[in-house]
Amino acid sequence: MTAQMTQFPTLVEDIAGWSVEELARDYGTPLFVYDAAKIVERINDLDEFDTVRYAQKANSNLAILDLVRRHGVAVDAVSAGEIHRALAAGYRAGPGEPSEIVYTADIFDRESLDLVVTHEIPVNCGSPDMIDQLGQRAPGREITLRINPGFGHGHSQKTNTGGQQSKHGIWHEQIDDCLQRAARYDLTISGLHMHIGSGTDLEHLSQVCGAMEKIAAVVGPTITSISAGGGLSVPYRDGDEPVDISGYTKLWNATRQQLAEQFGHAVSLEIEPGRFLAAESGSLIAEIRAIKTMGNNLFYLADAGFNNLARPILYGAYHPMAICRAEREQRSEVGGQGQQVVVGGPLCESGDIFTQEEGGFVCSRELPAAAVGDFLVIGCAGAYGAVMGSNYNSKPLAAEVLLENGKAHLVRARQSFEDIIRGETIPPQ
Ligand code: LLP
Repeated sequence: MTAQMTQFPTLVEDIAGWSVEELARDYGTPLFVYDAAKIVERINDLDEFDTVRYAQKANSNLAILDLVRRHGVAVDAVSAGEIHRALAAGYRAGPGEPSEIVYTADIFDRESLDLVVTHEIPVNCGSPDMIDQLGQRAPGREITLRINPGFGHGHSQKTNTGGQQSKHGIWHEQIDDCLQRAARYDLTISGLHMHIGSGTDLEHLSQVCGAMEKIAAVVGPTITSISAGGGLSVPYRDGDEPVDISGYTKLWNATRQQLAEQFGHAVSLEIEPGRFLAAESGSLIAEIRAIKTMGNNLFYLADAGFNNLARPILYGAYHPMAICRAEREQRSEVGGQGQQVVVGGPLCESGDIFTQEEGGFVCSRELPAAAVGDFLVIGCAGAYGAVMGSNYNSKPLAAEVLLENGKAHLVRARQSFEDIIRGETIPPQ
């Protein structure tokens, strides 16, 4: 990948060659659209890793899981629901080289423990208790340990998964205790995994190599695989540079090499990206339904809100945005000039603003002039978009479309009102 600065257009007509207006007309809005080619491109960027394991929490639509599976990508599951999704998308349960599905979490709820036991799904343990709980039910297995190396970093404090403020992983000073627990149940520790945060920078990610070497030396030669976790960032803003994958791969290859020499056998290298594979492929199309001024602020209000894309309200996350002008006879009401606008959604909550900074501070963005009926296209919405959607304000979950091989496939139908109230009952009076 060449390091070039990203520039996002603010006026668009199409997504990967597909007319925004036609997509909106055919499938309605709000609508997530995923470009399969982009996901495949990102998978290929990681071809120096022995195993790419997709962190499906980023986007677990069955069609996306099926797509990455067809391109040789293994999958991570963090819940019983994600195990069911992986199985439904055609992944095989059970151990393997590499195992197609791995359960990674800090706890087992009762369903997930049952599932990993009955389907023999390999487990990456994020707490000492998980070692005991699995050992009691399935002694003699191989396990891997997710280690918290004592430091972490994320694009936001909420996505930092290392250090003592974080609940994730096994504390790096408790390896001896874990070795004893594993031995009690005849469990073999065959791998180590570290994920220090999501959307972090390469400098922090690189520090993980050193921590991995140290902990691996304590565990010893039962280790046959190491995982660099996820966390790779993607360009969300103009001027952001794509991450330097080859530099990153080199560092991890050196770590893998060093451990292989120390142990006298091959050590395989995994990476576990979510955002990197899915984010850039996705756009959220919404229709602008009202334009109004509040004092000095001009608001574009669209029919997608934080029920569809929660990243801005949760983390103050920045997403590129563009306007797509709808075909209409009268264009005269819209000037061509850019203007500072606040972009919000339909929800009955003042935090329902896409242009906000962490802490909830509303800001504005320069966008082209638009009229009601034009479309708002929010970019880089393929990761942690639809999966974090909710039914707040009784809004249906959005439809999702996958563009692949010249075809548009509806891969998730928009929820109906009946879907929203399914399972609710009024007690008899
Ligand atoms: N592996 C583990 C163990 C993780 O906890 C995560 C993310 C990943 C891999 C994938 O990380 P990625 O490659 O996507 O950075 N909702 C937040 C992100 C939360 C990430 C949680 N864990 C956001 O929208 O930024």
